Amino acid sequence: MSDAFTREPSWDPRRFPPATREPRAVQTARMLRDPQSYARCLHRRFGPVFSVRTFPYRGALVCAADATPNRAVLTDHERFTGGDAAALLAPAVGSGSLICTPPPLHLRHRKLLLPPFHGARINRWAGRVRELVHTGLPDLLSGDGVALRPWAQRLTLDVILGVVFGLTDPARTAVFRHALSPFVATGNLATLFLPKPLQRDLGPLSPGRRFHRLRATVRDLTREEITARRTVPDHTHRDDVLSMLLDARDEHGSGLDDAQLLDELMGLVLAGYETTATTIAWTLHLLAHHPAARDDLIADLDAGSDRLLKATAKESGRLRPAVHYAIRTAAHDTELGGHPVPQHAFVAALFSLTHLDPELWPEPDAFRPERHLGTDPVPYALTPFGGGLRRCIGASLAQLETETVLREILAVAVPEPAGPLEPARLVSVTLVPAQGGRIRLRVRG
Ligand code: HEM
Repeated sequence: MSDAFTREPSWDPRRFPPATREPRAVQTARMLRDPQSYARCLHRRFGPVFSVRTFPYRGALVCAADATPNRAVLTDHERFTGGDAAALLAPAVGSGSLICTPPPLHLRHRKLLLPPFHGARINRWAGRVRELVHTGLPDLLSGDGVALRPWAQRLTLDVILGVVFGLTDPARTAVFRHALSPFVATGNLATLFLPKPLQRDLGPLSPGRRFHRLRATVRDLTREEITARRTVPDHTHRDDVLSMLLDARDEHGSGLDDAQLLDELMGLVLAGYETTATTIAWTLHLLAHHPAARDDLIADLDAGSDRLLKATAKESGRLRPAVHYAIRTAAHDTELGGHPVPQHAFVAALFSLTHLDPELWPEPDAFRPERHLGTDPVPYALTPFGGGLRRCIGASLAQLETETVLREILAVAVPEPAGPLEPARLVSVTLVPAQGGRIRLRVRG
């Protein structure tokens, strides 16, 4: 495993915030099966800072559940370092990706990556995103009940291939889609959470073999794309992220070399594809199950307003944030919420629990978009995109995609339940609807 796991302190109840005595396997199973309820139950028992002992951590994961410790973990960069824990993803994205780089390299890369993701620049892609939603609409409208997440995954992958990779040729896009979608599927990335020996290529049927084969194909294709784009003189006139990154320079005039670009592109796909698809799936699924909120939103959109649209996206990100937590490591022996935290321990800002804190969010389990109208939340009470120096750089793109999908679908159809409201399951760090977020769409008359 990476250095972060080698340095991780082993479990010692005197050196960590409190934890249950349940065996690690039981804690892991409970966290995977019902992450929000399990964390809530630990919060009730131990207070806002506690430990869980789950795989793949050998010691314990320290969890910060309230806005104050959540803020400390996300913003106190002297005590809590980013990059180390995400190195778990390094076999997938390469250790040079923004999500895996520790400081100070992280800040240098982040400065280069931020400009193409600026809101104003991203909004120029609204027309293309709308086109892609329309292309996928017939699949969604046909049939009696559809799982939203796989549908949204196709869409968000095509958006990334267009906006980030700048692919325009349909045949080339299809080749990438074919290679990328099985590679970045959470089920496949779950390989990274297996014990290290099981991640290896252990023969034709092993998950490790499949993972390494898919990874090699995707990286080869991406490398070809970088090389081809470097040699095309028109890339300076293009708006896609890859073209902009080829020319990005820091204050010393240095840019990203091809190996760094490759890792960054892998990281962007990995960070941006399933998260956005899952958010879209949860939002429509929640609307289908809350007809009053749904009808208010449709009426507001029909009247030409986007007030409730933005509030609905916030409420969905509060109740079911796609990312369950952001992880850091303790830079030295420290404390959190009055509990000791040993050096190198993994520490999570557990915002999917902060979002359910009744002190911050009255009736926290109710889906009520209007609660976001005309008020700003307490700082670090609502952080579906994280916060601090590692806040999501793709937030504007994800919001554009989510809002476009809602606008276009609700203009023609009304989401209705196709079964019970689905519970959340934890797959790697993503909080996914158990059955993919099934709904039925009734075409509007
Ligand atoms: C609704 C969809 C999304 C959600 C919920 C989401 C959530 C997050 C969160 C919580 C973090 C912080 C992780 C941490 O603090 O360790 C993060 C980081 C990041 N996200 Fe997103 N994300 C979404 C979409 C995207 C998209 C579309 C992209 C790009 C195409 C993207 C690229 C990134 C990158 C590169 C980072 C690492 C930033 C850094 O370390 O400086 N995300 N995301």
